[in-house]
Amino acid sequence: MSHTDIKSLDEFKILARKKTHRVLFNYFSTGAGDDQTLEDSKAAFKRFRLKPRIFRSDPNPDLGVSIQGHPIRVPFGIAPTAIQASAHPDGESATAKAAEGFGTIMILSSVSQTTIEDVRKSAPNAHLWMQTYVFKDRRNTIDIVRRAEKEGFEAIVVTVDSPVMGRFSQIRVKYEEFKEDESEEQEKQNIPMKSLVNVRGCPSDIERAKAAGDVNITQYVRNQIGESYPKWEDLASLRKLTNLPIILKGIISAESAREAVAAGVQGIIVSAHGGRQLDGVQAPIEALPEIVDALTGSNVEVYLDGGVRSGRDVFKALAIGAKAVFIGRPIIWGLICDGTSGVKQVLQHVEDELVNTMSLCGCNRVAEITPSLVMHESQVLSKL
Ligand code: FNR
Repeated sequence: MSHTDIKSLDEFKILARKKTHRVLFNYFSTGAGDDQTLEDSKAAFKRFRLKPRIFRSDPNPDLGVSIQGHPIRVPFGIAPTAIQASAHPDGESATAKAAEGFGTIMILSSVSQTTIEDVRKSAPNAHLWMQTYVFKDRRNTIDIVRRAEKEGFEAIVVTVDSPVMGRFSQIRVKYEEFKEDESEEQEKQNIPMKSLVNVRGCPSDIERAKAAGDVNITQYVRNQIGESYPKWEDLASLRKLTNLPIILKGIISAESAREAVAAGVQGIIVSAHGGRQLDGVQAPIEALPEIVDALTGSNVEVYLDGGVRSGRDVFKALAIGAKAVFIGRPIIWGLICDGTSGVKQVLQHVEDELVNTMSLCGCNRVAEITPSLVMHESQVLSKL
């Protein structure tokens, strides 16, 4: 399949569904609770309408942006998603190669199945950012930050929306999947699962977990995330630990965004964790305007993830004031379909749509994508 043959990123999802184990497909695709935030994050983009300008477009608009001081070829990158080696044998390395070839940022998840060092080896020139949690045992976080620094990662992304786990729907989905199937245990054994290799700051605890049967340390890592209860003091410690830019991922309110600025971070990702933590959270694209407003005048860069499924979605987020956006699930679908090439096809599809949207809206550079080009439907209705 080539990206020119497809009409929407959903086509990658349909193909991926056929190519992967159904338990894994459920893990990748579902959200928390009733999937309200998962679905609304996508639907909310459609509530913003475009208002193009005329007689302005030139051929070949320039998509380049400066992100945390680095020139990046396009204003969208790859969000951190866990266990990519369960999506494709080449796992996180395949995604990193795609990011490198495409000229964009990949955020590597700390819940990954390829080491920080091996990901760097496979993509020596990629713009890599490292995601971490404030793990229950803070030594795991410190170890990740130190190794990412050593491997030339360009930022530390701290996910802040997960003081506890929020995925009650997993149970529901699994139950429905296996209702008519007697062989759940058998199915589970066939899932291609590899060890979580990047949480390793507490060697003796990890050895103990493995010896007790948690061979891939999935339960250990789950507890490290789900019982972590991070506080602003932890961020202050992290701030002292590293000179890399710190980006907080998972902010959805202006209040928390202001606190993040006060805490001295360099960026925030407006994100609802792809609807996988607290269900009922506002769609990131609708939370973005008040957060952009709240941070006007600060040097903190604002990014967004959640529900981005087209170049038009990227355009809308940039118009409202995001500096860049990150894409989660569609990258996994590309990875499942065809490794590095599949991820590149997903990215290329988004780029082609963004170029097209910019041309149709009269924008030749990203800086020309301004708030006047987009309107929320509630404003449209109030003017009727
Ligand atoms: C995620 N996400 C995530 N976030 C994070 O900070 N660390 C992680 O390890 C993961 N893992 C993860 C696994 C899977 C399967 C998914 C789908 C998501 C959240 C991710 O970074 C991002 O916030 C959302 O995926 C964005 O929403 P979309 O693009 O998937 O709609």
